[in-house]
Amino acid sequence: MEAGTETRSARGPRRGELLEVEIDSLAFGGRGVARADGFVVFVAGALPGDRVRAEVTKGKKRFAEARTVELLRPGADRVADVCSHGGEPCPGAPWQGLPYERQRAAKQAQVAEALDRLGGLGGYELEEIVSAEQTWRYRNKLEYSFGESEEGEPTLGFHARGRWDLIVDVEDCHLASEAGNAARNEVREWARAESVPTYDAGARRGVLRNLTVREGRRTGQVQTRLVTTPARFPRPPVDLHTQVEGDSGGTDGPTGVLGEERLRERLFELDLEISHGAFFQTNTEMAERLYAVAAEFAGLSGRERVFDLFCGIGTIGLSLAGRAGEVWGLEIVPEAIADAERNARRNRIGNARFVAANARTGVRPLLEEAGKPDVVVVDPPRAGLSQKIVRRVIECGAQKIVYVSCNPTTLAPNAAQLVEAGYRLQRVRPVDMFPQTPHIECVALFEKAASAPSGGAA
Ligand SMILES: C[S@@+](CC[C@H](N)C(=O)[O-])C[C@H]1O[C@@H](n2cnc3c(N)ncnc32)[C@H](O)[C@@H]1O
Repeated sequence: MEAGTETRSARGPRRGELLEVEIDSLAFGGRGVARADGFVVFVAGALPGDRVRAEVTKGKKRFAEARTVELLRPGADRVADVCSHGGEPCPGAPWQGLPYERQRAAKQAQVAEALDRLGGLGGYELEEIVSAEQTWRYRNKLEYSFGESEEGEPTLGFHARGRWDLIVDVEDCHLASEAGNAARNEVREWARAESVPTYDAGARRGVLRNLTVREGRRTGQVQTRLVTTPARFPRPPVDLHTQVEGDSGGTDGPTGVLGEERLRERLFELDLEISHGAFFQTNTEMAERLYAVAAEFAGLSGRERVFDLFCGIGTIGLSLAGRAGEVWGLEIVPEAIADAERNARRNRIGNARFVAANARTGVRPLLEEAGKPDVVVVDPPRAGLSQKIVRRVIECGAQKIVYVSCNPTTLAPNAAQLVEAGYRLQRVRPVDMFPQTPHIECVALFEKAASAPSGGAA
């Protein structure tokens, strides 16, 4: 911390203030943690050991948030950035300055910290993090936004960190494959060549809003989805399987689907179709590793009834079906359930059924229809399970609960609630699905203690 601190220690750093700080550690979510006169400052774009000049973006009573404006002295083990977007920091790979081994260690430590400190849990085995097979070019899906260069040309890339109005134009995203990059660049070239105006959210004017590029890593299929405002514009390159949202307002502009409606992908021996509205893990290779851990923890013998809650297109349940007596999947997005049913038929899996329902209200009817499961797998979004859904899971009375989590800070309170109800947290294994980013995935196994009560209150 530098000069000008007398009043600051009484009130803390204020928005717009410039600080010079040294980063001690990494917080959940990936920002660097520094101290300024006793106040904790969370600094975006900074890594442990870095000395940075940072601008305060939010000043709270007990802590402040800031963003790096200048790296004054890099930390001793920083590695050179791989991404270069015209000098702008890469918003998609904020941990690329950390050697991969340090990324793994940070994730392993954050899982332990969440469970121990936030969940008050202990006595479980924290197993070694499963390393990513590919540390770059692993994503099968990326979403880009359109912007405008100073010369008025369309740009296509990511929002600059903390900026809704500035797009970092991306030529080569190192998290995407070469085919995915080529697809994005082709759409940008088309927008430039045809002078299609990009959407300006401030002025609420223009046409092109964003673009999603999805790729079947094992099928080679590339699917792009273009989101626009209702407008006339020339036909985009059809061979990119482009879908255009919004009414074209005329006959020469395309509407609806041009190209394949669903993406084809293979996972283990499964042949899958994925609708654009359905969730699919963004790292195909590591999804297999993740599901293999879930299968190992489930420890099926061939006879069990398995509930796959938050099942998406059915990937976990379908990959377990051959080792189970029966599988029941539940998921809130009807389009994903239609995919799951189609995927079961396609792969001739006859012992899997799927239900479109909210887990909050759908678990009790499922329990009534299917009967008590031996194993429940849950794989919720980052927000984790609500307390009520945890109670519904407890009511299932399964011997084992396999919890696939993409956020250890929401796993922790859910785990504490399960333990309170008589489950034991046995083992946890992190899986690195997202190298170069702070995102952490892990699988946790809970087993019912012998004397545990069989249900929870409403
Ligand atoms: C992290 S994804 C996991 C999907 C799937 N297990 C997989 O690995 O592909 C979470 C899923 O939960 C679904 N979901 C979100 N809230 C839900 C709810 N309240 N009830 C049921 N499903 C929900 C989402 O639509 C999404 O498909």
